[in-house]
Amino acid sequence: MIFGGQSSEHVVSCMSAINVIENIDRSMYDVILVGITEKGNWLKVDTLDSIKCGSWTNSKIQALLLPDAQDRSILINDKDSYDKIKIDVVFPVLHGLYGEDGTIQGLCELAGIPYVGSGVLASAVSMDKVYTKIIVERLGIKQAAYEVVLREEFESCTDDVYSSDDYKNTNKTIPEDRSWEDIVKRVESRFGYPMFVKPSNAGSSRGITKATDAESLKNAVKTALKHDRKVLIEEAVNGREIECAVLGSGAGVKASGVGEILAGADFYDFDAKYYSTQSKTVINPKLPNDAEHIIPEYAKKIFNAVDGFGLARVDFFVKPDGEAVFNEINTMPGFTAISMYPMLWEAAGLNKKELIKNLIELSFK
Ligand code: DAL
Ligand code: MG
Repeated sequence: MIFGGQSSEHVVSCMSAINVIENIDRSMYDVILVGITEKGNWLKVDTLDSIKCGSWTNSKIQALLLPDAQDRSILINDKDSYDKIKIDVVFPVLHGLYGEDGTIQGLCELAGIPYVGSGVLASAVSMDKVYTKIIVERLGIKQAAYEVVLREEFESCTDDVYSSDDYKNTNKTIPEDRSWEDIVKRVESRFGYPMFVKPSNAGSSRGITKATDAESLKNAVKTALKHDRKVLIEEAVNGREIECAVLGSGAGVKASGVGEILAGADFYDFDAKYYSTQSKTVINPKLPNDAEHIIPEYAKKIFNAVDGFGLARVDFFVKPDGEAVFNEINTMPGFTAISMYPMLWEAAGLNKKELIKNLIELSFK
């Protein structure tokens, strides 16, 4: 099992890892723990307690997944001695960049080792909110309106990015001139305040800000650009936050019931997600217009459209009239003790131990 990682969701991954380790069936699996520090060191970790108290980062033993497909091993480098350990399956309990975005998945592919969850393409597409939107657009499922701002564009405030003929072939209106003021005018006229500004590639709401006027919009873009060179300015959707878990692949994929997030803050930001005692989750809430039955169908369609495999949590807003608006998909959803993904399956009759076993077995398919 690999956890930690270089992303802004490092700490969430550690919390997810603790929950997976506590619920994995040790009579079936010998678990080797590999932690990746925030700086990117790969370490062999010996105890659950060291993850709980954070001391695992002091490990002096390197543990490297070898890309050599003949080895199918991790290399344990303990000062002067080297040891190779054969691996049957990798469980990348990693969220965000360098973990949920296709990079670790690519390394597992090279190493010839099966791994839990989606492959390179689905992971990369689902990590990138703009690309996910492009795919979901084809399904005709409603999504929030948005504009993309690239770092280069923001910094230079020119319209260079939009001058190509390729862009003219899309259905989008080409702005006459993309100075910063024009971008502001355009989003103000398209959807108005409040708006959400998000890094295209990040998770757990890292780098996301709610903008309420032109000044906060500019600051919000700057904040998001610290996480990614591509930023979305998105319409705020007035709706309940509803999530759905999927498990399996292709035609056999299963969806759970739905869960609702009652954020203990203005929006479900990082602190509200993991630290607020005010945030609550409700399993199988009643929704207007039968949305609790429509959402699981949408979740499966979206999962298959991005070529998902194994697991994902698909997030929506449900408007007061019952219309479901797709928000995002997470191919390695949070697995902490308070996370929706395991809770939704528990409510559907699949306890954490069985769920983990299912996920591992799927990876051999
Ligand atoms: N990105 C976090 C871990 C989630 O979606 O649960
Ligand atoms: Mg996410």
